Amino acid sequence: MKNKKYLLATDLDGTFVGDEEALGRLLEYFNSAPHEVALVYVTGRHFSSAQSLIAEEGLPIPNLLITDVGTSIYHADGLEDINWKRHMQEDWQPELIAEIAVTFPSLKRQELPDDRRVSFTVSDDVGAVDEFRKALDAQAIPHTFIFSSNRDIDVLPSRAGKGNALEYVLGKYARDDVKLLIAGDSGNDRDMLSLGHPSVIVGNAQPELLEMEPCENLFRANENCAGGIHEAWLHFYGEGREFVG
Ligand code: GLC
Ligand code: MG
Repeated sequence: MKNKKYLLATDLDGTFVGDEEALGRLLEYFNSAPHEVALVYVTGRHFSSAQSLIAEEGLPIPNLLITDVGTSIYHADGLEDINWKRHMQEDWQPELIAEIAVTFPSLKRQELPDDRRVSFTVSDDVGAVDEFRKALDAQAIPHTFIFSSNRDIDVLPSRAGKGNALEYVLGKYARDDVKLLIAGDSGNDRDMLSLGHPSVIVGNAQPELLEMEPCENLFRANENCAGGIHEAWLHFYGEGREFVG
């Protein structure tokens, strides 16, 4: 990955995946360009769920895969970056978080393969989300709280999140002068879209992203999913610039 000048770091569901034809056009565009684009997927899914999606949709194999909302980083061969995992788990207390959550019956715990994050689904009682957040704060439990799509709550180690994981990946695995685009559609993408790098909110994004403060490097696409990524790529790197030759 260190020798690639360009890099796309993208969320999967609702961003890279969601419009098959637009994704086909984006991949064709990348394949016909003179420069190779490194690919990093940054997803809320756990590792095997992300692997299944990649297989089902026939997605290109990424150089790196960030899963579980930025709590885990994997190489293409499935090997985990153990340093990141260690760094994550220093102040992590999942049992305590689960204990507090039990007092909020409307939060349904997601079944996940391990407790590197503690996640819930909420349907009608969105008020309980704030109450839960306050309860965690009141007990001073170190964590990062993420609410996405008016449905998913992810409680993560304080140092996790897609933004922190992506910064770590860029520092360790990418060229210093890499030209990148970061793409997302929902609340768990907010922190990586706020890093200040060229970023895109795709046209079909959830309301929690539409309310983000405008900023120079944050592009709002009209097109949905991969179509929005393509639109943003042309905005930042297309027409007359080196990427297309
Ligand atoms: C994905 C994951 C889910 C997570 C959500 C929001 O849907 O499968 O576990 O809560 O993203 O990050
Ligand atoms: Mg998404």
